[in-house]
Amino acid sequence: MKEILDAILSTDSTSADFAAIKLPESYRAVTLHKDEEQMFAGLDSRDKDPRKSLHLDDVALPELGPGEALVAVMASAVNYNTVWSSIYEPVSTFGFLERYGRLSPLTKRHDLPYHVLGSDLAGVVLRTGAGVNAWKPGDEVVAHCLSVELESSDGHNDTMMDPEQRIWGFETNFGGLAQIALVKTNQLMPKPAHLTWEEAASPGLVNSTAYRQLVSQNGAGMKQGDNVLIWGASGGLGSYATQYALAGGATPICVVSNDQKAEICRAMGAEAIIDRSAEGYRFWKDENTQDPREWKRLGGRIRELTGGEDVDIVFEHPGRETFGASVYVTRKGGTIVTCASTSGFMHQYDNRYLWMSLKKIVGSHFANYREAWEANRLVAKGKIHPTLSKVYSLDQTGQAALDVHQNKHQGKVGVLCLAPSEGLGVRDPELREKHLPAINRFRDI
Ligand SMILES: NC(=O)c1ccc[n+]([C@@H]2O[C@H](COP(=O)([O-])OP(=O)(O)OC[C@H]3O[C@@H](n4cnc5c(N)ncnc54)[C@H](OP(=O)(O)O)[C@@H]3O)[C@@H](O)[C@H]2O)c1
Repeated sequence: MKEILDAILSTDSTSADFAAIKLPESYRAVTLHKDEEQMFAGLDSRDKDPRKSLHLDDVALPELGPGEALVAVMASAVNYNTVWSSIYEPVSTFGFLERYGRLSPLTKRHDLPYHVLGSDLAGVVLRTGAGVNAWKPGDEVVAHCLSVELESSDGHNDTMMDPEQRIWGFETNFGGLAQIALVKTNQLMPKPAHLTWEEAASPGLVNSTAYRQLVSQNGAGMKQGDNVLIWGASGGLGSYATQYALAGGATPICVVSNDQKAEICRAMGAEAIIDRSAEGYRFWKDENTQDPREWKRLGGRIRELTGGEDVDIVFEHPGRETFGASVYVTRKGGTIVTCASTSGFMHQYDNRYLWMSLKKIVGSHFANYREAWEANRLVAKGKIHPTLSKVYSLDQTGQAALDVHQNKHQGKVGVLCLAPSEGLGVRDPELREKHLPAINRFRDI
């Protein structure tokens, strides 16, 4: 591993130097163990502690297949899917690996008694498999997390429609929370040159998701002037949705749960902010009954902030807790675009407000390669910025996941993998200097 790291840290290593490095037989990785699937049985979600289920192990280097790359991972990030995996909710991710393993002898590699997690990375290509021409050893890259087989015609308009579509490092093995990762090369994108490894690793999954969900025609197709209600506006997804709304000439109405988070939204440039805790919204009277007066109160507050207008788009992901309110507050003809159900997936809403006002509910999930590429390009150009607030070492990934599980974090939480310290990997200091305050926004608060 030392030879790999030395080559990355040296400024004059060539592609041939990387190709000549003998790869180790094993590497350090954050794993779940299949024989622990039941470890949290009977516990309440909030009592399930990722520090107990996430391990740091030596695992065998997987064999490299056609169209794939082995990447030395300098840094990765914690996503909410790491939390879901680590608490074995809503299902154990080993079921995904078993199903994937049944597809072919090559995918069988993924079906192991351990699961290497992680759906983001920034690092350097070490090897490429047969048939790969676009990438070579030594390339500095980030990886998006869409894994597709593309053998069916279904995925050829929009790769998210591939019947064998999976999220790498969640529904597949050999993810990014490790010293080395295995990806398909159609997951690779150039690392933004003005960012450190840990900054570059942090936008990937959430930035691409927010781009499709809000900007792409496959999602809400946001346009200039739209009012966009953004739940969790300083969180992983929300911190990018807020930036897209502002950069695209729309008006974000940011919902957060405390002052510090409100401050971060202001630092991004948002003006309309709702503190859901301070304002005490209770959309549910009890487990089965919603309170439409509370929907109305939220709608009234939005109108106060917008000068009497309703929202064109609701950027939804909390799910059960907020969905009834989201459908209610959307303007006539508007769109509720959802990619998740953090608080519960059995949603309830009053359909009269949907059909009578010709609203649309749009389902959105991650992003295709093109959308992920566009989203990464905007980061590389300094138009969208990382929202990294804190960085942990690989052996502290359990704590990093606990922070996200307990909603104690801001924006994104990073993890150093091979990188010996923060601050490395910047290749374009001039562009960095220009955007430094924006890059550090989430760190400074
Ligand atoms: N389908 C996809 O491709 C995709 C991609 C990324 C993420 N996701 C999913 O989307 C969800 C959010 O991910 P994330 O990375 O943004 O997580 P995150 O960093 O934890 O941010 C979510 C934010 O939502 C707000 N929130 C949480 N529970 C809420 C509730 N009951 N009511 C209102 N607001 C609530 C919180 O903000 P405040 O406390 O400040 O309000 C929280 O910070 C997760 O379930 C994740 O698995 C799906």
